[in-house]
Order: sequence, then C-alpha cells, then structure tokens
Amino acid sequence: MPLDEYDDCWLRYDRVGDDAPRESYRRRCLHAYVSTGAPELAAVRDELRRGIGGILGREPHLWQHPPRSVDGFLAVGTPEEMEVVADSVDTDAVAELADGGFHLRATEWEGSPVLVVTAPTDRGLVYGTFALLRRLALGRPIDDLDRFEEPATPDRVIDHWDNPFRRSVERGYAGPSLIDVGELPALRDRYEEYARLLSSVGINGVVLNNVNTEIPSRPSANAAMDAFAGWQLLATDRLDDLAPLASVFRRYGVRLYLSVNFGAPETLGGLDTADPTDPAVEEWWAEKADEVYERIPDFGGFLVKADSEGQPGPYDYGADHVDGANVLARALAPHSGRVWWRAFVYGSHADRAVQQYETFAPLDGAFHDAVTLQVKNGPIDFQPREPVSPVFGQLPETDLGLELQITGEYTGQHVHACYHVPMWKEVLEFDTDPEGVGGGEGDGDGTRVKDLLRGPGSGIAGVGAPGEDPSWTGHYLAQANLYGFGRLAWDPDLSTEAITDEWTGQTFGTGPTVAEPVTDVLHESWPAVIDYTTGGLGLLHMMYNGEARLENHYDPAPEEWPGYTGASADGIGVDRNARGNGYAQQYPEAIAARYDDPETCPEELLLFFHHLAWDRELADGRTVVQTLYDNCFRGVARAERLRERWRDLDGRIDDRRFRHVAERLEEQVLQARRWRDSLVDFFYDHSGIPDEDCRVPRTE
Ligand code: GCU
Repeated sequence: MPLDEYDDCWLRYDRVGDDAPRESYRRRCLHAYVSTGAPELAAVRDELRRGIGGILGREPHLWQHPPRSVDGFLAVGTPEEMEVVADSVDTDAVAELADGGFHLRATEWEGSPVLVVTAPTDRGLVYGTFALLRRLALGRPIDDLDRFEEPATPDRVIDHWDNPFRRSVERGYAGPSLIDVGELPALRDRYEEYARLLSSVGINGVVLNNVNTEIPSRPSANAAMDAFAGWQLLATDRLDDLAPLASVFRRYGVRLYLSVNFGAPETLGGLDTADPTDPAVEEWWAEKADEVYERIPDFGGFLVKADSEGQPGPYDYGADHVDGANVLARALAPHSGRVWWRAFVYGSHADRAVQQYETFAPLDGAFHDAVTLQVKNGPIDFQPREPVSPVFGQLPETDLGLELQITGEYTGQHVHACYHVPMWKEVLEFDTDPEGVGGGEGDGDGTRVKDLLRGPGSGIAGVGAPGEDPSWTGHYLAQANLYGFGRLAWDPDLSTEAITDEWTGQTFGTGPTVAEPVTDVLHESWPAVIDYTTGGLGLLHMMYNGEARLENHYDPAPEEWPGYTGASADGIGVDRNARGNGYAQQYPEAIAARYDDPETCPEELLLFFHHLAWDRELADGRTVVQTLYDNCFRGVARAERLRERWRDLDGRIDDRRFRHVAERLEEQVLQARRWRDSLVDFFYDHSGIPDEDCRVPRTE
C-alpha cells in the first residue's frame, strides 16, 4: 500500500486560514537555520519541510549558517552548537531542563526577528520542533513566544501487545501488527511515520511485543497462543535484526523495549532453571543484557508479566517478585536500562481487586533502583470505570509506572467511539492522600496520582492501539486516544478540553463548524459507553469473555461473571467494604471511610463497593434498580446524540473520514441498544421490579 494512503492523523499540516497570524509565521519560519550532525536533526529538517510546507504552502529555505540577508528566521539548535541560540536565550535555564525539555522563544538577533527552538539535547530539539509546528497548525500566535517545557515523567512508553511473527495483536482492533518483526532487518516507510506520530506527542519508548510472551514448554490454556513466541525476540540473531529499527526510532527520540519471558534462561539459554536466585541465571541475564546493548545502545529495558495469567514468574521457583525483578534490574542497570515489572497479578483471591495491594505493599522499598512497578489504573482490568488502584500513593519507596489502556478492549473495541482522555484525567487527578499526610503537592491537600509519576524511575505506559489499518487505530476517532495519551504523559496538568482542542484542530480543522461537533462527540462518548455497558453505578465486567482468554470482551453477557456484579434476588453490587472483603480498607483512612459508607461513596462507584437492595433509595430519591434502568436508557440516548451530532459534519470534512465514522456511530447505536436490553433484562430478572416508565420488562 503506498505511503500516502496512510492517514496523517494530527500531522496533516493543512494550510492555515486567514485568521492565523500568517505574516509572522512567514517572517519567522520561511528561512530556517538548523544545526546539523545528529540524526535527530535530520528528523527536524524533514519535519520543518513537511510542516511549514503544508501550513504556509511553501517549504522553508534551509540554511547552513545564520541567514543575515533575510528579514527573520527560525533557529533550531542547542546553545553549545549555535551562537545565535546562545545569544538569544537564558542558557542556564535551558541547561536545567529535563531530558526531552525544550525552549521556544521569539526574539531579535542582529536587528532581525528570530524564532528559537532550543534544548539541552537533540531529542529536545525534535520535541520542540513538533511543539512549534503544533502551534502553527492551530493558528496560535508566536510573536511573544517564551516558553519552557519539559516532560512531567521521564518514560512515556507505548506497550504493543503484538504477537511477533504472526503479526496478530492481542486486543488490537486496527489490523495486523504495524511492525513486522519477522521481516526485519527490512524496514517499511511506515515505521518512520509511526515514530513521527509518537514523537510529536512526546512518547519516548515502544515495547515491541506482547506481555504474553508464551513459551511452548509451558502450554497456555489456548494452544494456538503458544506459537506466538514473543520470547524468541531475545535470541541473538533476532536482536541483530532489531538494530536498524532502533535507529529509525532513535531519530525521533524513541527507544525500543522488549517484553521478556521470565523463563527465558531455560527456553532460550538452555539452563535447567530460571530461578532468579541462581547465580547461573543471574549471569545469563547479565550477558543477555550486554548483548542487547551492544546492538542497541539506547535500548530502554525489559517489560515483564510474571506469575500472571499463565506466564512464568519467580513463584515457580519459590522466589518472590523482588527476587524476580531485581535479577533483571542488576543486568540492565549498568546500561541505564530499566525493568518495568507488572503488578497485574491475581488468581489467589476470589476477588482479584484485593490482590495487587496485598502482594506489592509488603515489598515496598525492596525493589532495585532500576525497577519501575507498572500498575494498571484500576484494581480489576481497564474497565469503563474503576476506582484508582490502592497501590498508588501507598508504596512511597517504589518507583511507579501508571499503565493505561489506549486500545478499547472494554470500551467498544474501536467499533464504538470512546474517548479515554477524561477517564485518564480522572485517574491522574485522583488524590491518593486527601489528608495531606504524605505532605505531597496536589492543590495543597494530598498527593495526586500525577504527582507520583514525576520522579526519576517513574513513567506512564499506554497499551496498544495502532495497527496496519490505514487509519492506524481502526476508528478515526480512536486516534484521539493515542494523541491524548502522549500529551497527558508529557503534561498531566493539561485539561481534557485543551487536549481535545489541539487534537480536533490539527486533525479536522479549527473552525467552529467543524471543531464543535467533533468535540461534542468526543466528550459525550465515554459517558455514553459507561451508561449502556455498566448502568453507571460502578458495576463492571459484564462483557462476554468466553472460554479462552482471547475471546471478545465486546458483547454483553451480564450473567457470565456473577462475582463481578453480585446480582441476587435481594440486591446488586459487591461488598468490597468492611462488611465484605475489606478492599476499601486498603486505601488510606480518609478514602477508605468515604468508600466504606454508601452515603458518602461516589454514586458512580457505589455498586463496586456495596451490595445494595434493589429498592434502596439513592440521593435523588430514585431506587438502585430504577437508576440502573434510567442510566441504560440514557446511554442509548447519548449514543444516538453522537450519531446525530456527527451528521452535522456532512460536507464539512472529507468524505472518507466522515463516512467511516458515521458508519461506526450507526453501529454503535445498534450495539448500545443491544447492551441496554441485555442489562435491563438482567436487572429485571434478578430484581423482579418493573421500570416506573414501563420500559422494562420489555415486550418485544
Ligand atoms: C487483560 C486482557 C488480556 C491481557 C491482560 C494483561 O486481562 O484481557 O488480553 O493479557 O489484561 O494485561 O496482561
């Protein structure tokens, strides 16, 4: 497929309209003096050609020296390399910026207007260039620019759940794997396009393969899965093949990571154990790390799913997670690599919500400095809505990585529109310490999740999304989740509205007749999905699961997992409170108290924490069951509004994207009705209480 058939996403660089300050763009950007040398600077030059060329309709003239004969120019370089930059900025302030940080400044140099993009590192110059182009694409002023930016968290990583060689993607809804590792070292043009997209939003790492790395000697429940063999990527000849790919990403400041199998010393190394306390195993990992870094000097590190859903781990050898993570950390630390060790471990409790905190809280302080504990936002599994995991804020001596799901596994699988940014914002703003005991930042009270991710060793990981589909994400609107993930990882203080404006403006245009309908659709999509897939009171996982793990999580099947809903004749919900399994008590006191009492528990999480009678009255006087009915119907009404609102764009955006989204929204309405019917039947079957508005029991 020719490259130009792939969507440009938010890097369209359409010509800006008359309302943009085009004259100052022209003066300051049509001549560019860009430092040379590092591969990143070639990326900067290419991007300026594409970006300025699109936005102003004319490619910039690129100079090898400061262009004294013209009236204004753009200068991109570090202060050390470019005198004009050193003369124009506060060099000490630039030197203090975190890795990836940059400074944009409009000023004058030898009497002529100059726009400076500078940074302490070449990587920062790439991010700075993208930030400048974003400003231009959005038509924002540049003449008073004086902006320092740096990423809030050091590692901003996208976790591909790609099954190498087969090119299938676990929970992928955008076609086969984007990166064909079986074909490496051959490269496709698309890899560079992908690196541009990631870098433009500040993502600086890519884990190439699925956390389920499966090994044949330990068959999983699904035999077909065993052939995926992601663990083979650590083999020496495979590592050789990865090096050229790493170079493509390096130009854009993006590093490669691999998911590794904890049993690799056995399967790959031929040892008779993978026991992390065995010196031969320690040596094997150290040598393997050396091999990786010989080929990829800026390699990011290993991601590990251990002792979870059939993957091997330290428990298999009588060791614990600290032993397991630390043996890998000792191998990577000399190369400045990191181990991202997943906290997604469950199985020994009837309610999986309870397990993570119980497993990891006692290990606080014991992990090696090169370990990042990667924790999903909620205690269950990327549900449309969950409380924030109690691990956040309670392991002060452990570096944490927040794991979010970009792909829509439980939110309509890219058939439905569902904008995840407001959900992620809710997570990042969650105050883990409302009494301020920890003395953190967060608005003068406690420490918010976003504050926990700022230090060295911490990070944010987003699971999945892209594939080979020309839209990259399967649904054009799902691109907004990839965009929003990167922007929030870079700056978690950004508001949902700011991110939506940026994405919409760059992707569809800034004019209100286009931007407003797109914004409305995005903003109403998550509330719609919550309503019709959960009933909006904190229930979750009513999706069909099937026998094997790779079944769908798409269709409604509320009866399938009674443990998640707690539905019975007397009521619904799960007592994860002091009367029940005590999950609420895992939070600090103030939060525990709020969740433990149905009167103070936020209504949207009520049934997650409490089993309540069907006819119990809620704050507004409606009963539990009536509220569930009403919310399910509201969800469908919302889905219908998404569809109607999108129709306002007919003729205002290109036909291809208009029709693609319109068709999916049509399907979303049908699916929303199916969900609603399935859920209201389920509530009625258990409660026996009809809907006050006579919609349930249903007659058809
Ligand atoms: C979910 C998902 C699996 C995935 C797992 C994980 O359970 O459905 O496909 O393997 O999460 O995060 O490891």
